[in-house]
Amino acid sequence: DSHLVQKTNERYREILPNLPRGKGWMTEHLVQYQGVWLTPNAALKGLMWVQGHFKPRSTDIFLASFPKTGTTWLKALTFATINRTRYGFADHPLLTTVPHGCLPFLEACPNDLDGFPSPRLLSTHIPYTLLPNSMTVNQSCRFVYICRDPKDVLVSKWLFMNKLRPKELAPISLEEAFELFCQGISHYGPYWDHVLGYWKASLETPEQVLFLKYEELKGEPSVVVKRLGEFLGHPFSLEEESKGVVEEIVKLCSFENLSNLGVNKSSVLKLSTQIIVDNRHFFRKGKVGDGKSYLTDEMIKRINEITSEKLLGSGLVF
Ligand code: A3P
Repeated sequence: DSHLVQKTNERYREILPNLPRGKGWMTEHLVQYQGVWLTPNAALKGLMWVQGHFKPRSTDIFLASFPKTGTTWLKALTFATINRTRYGFADHPLLTTVPHGCLPFLEACPNDLDGFPSPRLLSTHIPYTLLPNSMTVNQSCRFVYICRDPKDVLVSKWLFMNKLRPKELAPISLEEAFELFCQGISHYGPYWDHVLGYWKASLETPEQVLFLKYEELKGEPSVVVKRLGEFLGHPFSLEEESKGVVEEIVKLCSFENLSNLGVNKSSVLKLSTQIIVDNRHFFRKGKVGDGKSYLTDEMIKRINEITSEKLLGSGLVF
């Protein structure tokens, strides 16, 4: 195993200098690998590790997303749904742990995933098309994907990145963030390709990939949570439904509830040795359509045009 890891490290050092570079949103620039923009350190290394060494199990469940599309919410809902007979709602882990702390991030945990008991609930930002065949072909692993209107993703990301940027750097302007996002130069971008990869997979193998939209979840959370339970092989029983278990989960994971918990107001999450994030930054507004109140009419027009062009013929609309 250590031989394999060494080979990946060698290959990483070999390819890195030749990858196209793009402007980063934080301190680090981004590099383009297999068509996708990634941070050269954590994200590219993590991806290469997953592609080279990760051993999926047929019972694995992956929560997949592009950053700022509702990852935190999806993690909370899925964790609560799967573990609903294990924890009570009065002393639930989600009341004292930020959702990101409740399950491992696939590409950040190279060595400790083998020790996790099945079924493993893992999260990933890797685009579907870059996942190794061992995860996607002839496997019964399941993926739950969440996506969101690109205008809201862009604005959410822009505000989030400016909070994470070191104080000595000037904030990124909205104009610059907009250009980068539209050009696809955004962590795991282009956004539209990310969405389309999982969308197509959900059409081809619906039993393997559940495709959700943030907007649908906002509109009818109970309906989506029931679908989630069914998809994951834990359908809600009539008794659970009549006892209001679905609504309890929705309430526990709601923006209002999570964002007001002490842990999410004042604790931090260590994303890497360099990046420590205040949990409160994962909860900003949690609204549909907020992006439009920041973008100019011209920006809205352009991003809508890109979206319709990219999604043309796919059957997917925002
Ligand atoms: P806004 O910046 O538009 O408020 P991610 O979790 O992928 O980083 O996405 C973050 C976005 O999801 C932020 O959007 C955040 O406020 C919102 N969010 C976080 N928790 C949520 C929840 N429980 N319900 C609804 N939205 C939530």
